[in-house]
Amino acid sequence: MSDYRFIQTEVDGRVGIVWLNRPDVLNALNRTMVHEILEVFEEYDRNDDIRVIFLGGKGRAFAAGADIDEMSEDDSISMELLNQFADWDRLSLVKKPVIGAVHGFCLGGGFELALVCDLLFAAEDTKFAFPEINLAVMPGAGGTQRLTKLIGKTKALEWIWGGDMHPAEEAHELGIVNKLYPKENLIEEALAYAKELAEKPPLAVRLIKEAVNKAVDYPLQEGMFFERKNFYLLFSSEDQKEGMKAFIEKRKPDFKGR
Ligand code: CAA
Repeated sequence: MSDYRFIQTEVDGRVGIVWLNRPDVLNALNRTMVHEILEVFEEYDRNDDIRVIFLGGKGRAFAAGADIDEMSEDDSISMELLNQFADWDRLSLVKKPVIGAVHGFCLGGGFELALVCDLLFAAEDTKFAFPEINLAVMPGAGGTQRLTKLIGKTKALEWIWGGDMHPAEEAHELGIVNKLYPKENLIEEALAYAKELAEKPPLAVRLIKEAVNKAVDYPLQEGMFFERKNFYLLFSSEDQKEGMKAFIEKRKPDFKGR
């Protein structure tokens, strides 16, 4: 539990959890809320006791988008000066794995937040959409870029121009979602996955995340060079020595993240 206004935090073993917690407005994301999420993500990222970050939503939705009331009177200059997306940029610089669990509605800015997660688990009832077009605007926190990189140009245009709701099953088929679960099992199953991941050697986990993310943006040869540097780097870790020694000695390794 915490003193944040729009989120709740909790630590379960080595998993640091953030719950979006504005259920009255379906967890509509206002700027303070995004800043709170960032603050906790960065705190977890620096905390040696935390190995995996978990994000979910309280109430009947993960998040129904950015807070429309908050932005309805904005103009382009006020937004430029506010530079609210700097927080979103920092969210994607978090080095530890971020596991998202979505249910109910995953819309607009909420969908963009889900796309910041490294892996996404969804309840079978989840509806995904970028409804911004219906407000005569467009996604502004990475939606046009991240969705396109995930599902390709034509599907992304269909979804973002359409603005309509897509069932979780379609999101799963397109690779947006890793796994679907009945609503009542979602949190238990997604948290179990997060805890399993937290048992893996943390340095290898984070350098794999970094290298895989480079594959999205880098040409192959540059990505290969990047991968190699991270591969070599892991051979400086105590965990690499422990992992290989434990294999040879036929025992369970004890990884320290060093
Ligand atoms: N912003 C502010 N308030 C929101 C909200 C949002 N994005 N989404 C829902 N709410 C509020 C509603 O106004 C309502 O508040 P009141 O009880 O005070 O009236 C409350 O949450 C419950 O919502 P509904 O009564 O509408 O619930 P419903 O089940 O009938 O409908 C819904 C659910 C279809 C998700 C509907 O709420 C809806 O269409 N929400 C807006 C979705 C949307 O357009 N999201 C995109 C926002 S723009 C964006 O995200 C931009 C970006 O990329 C940065």
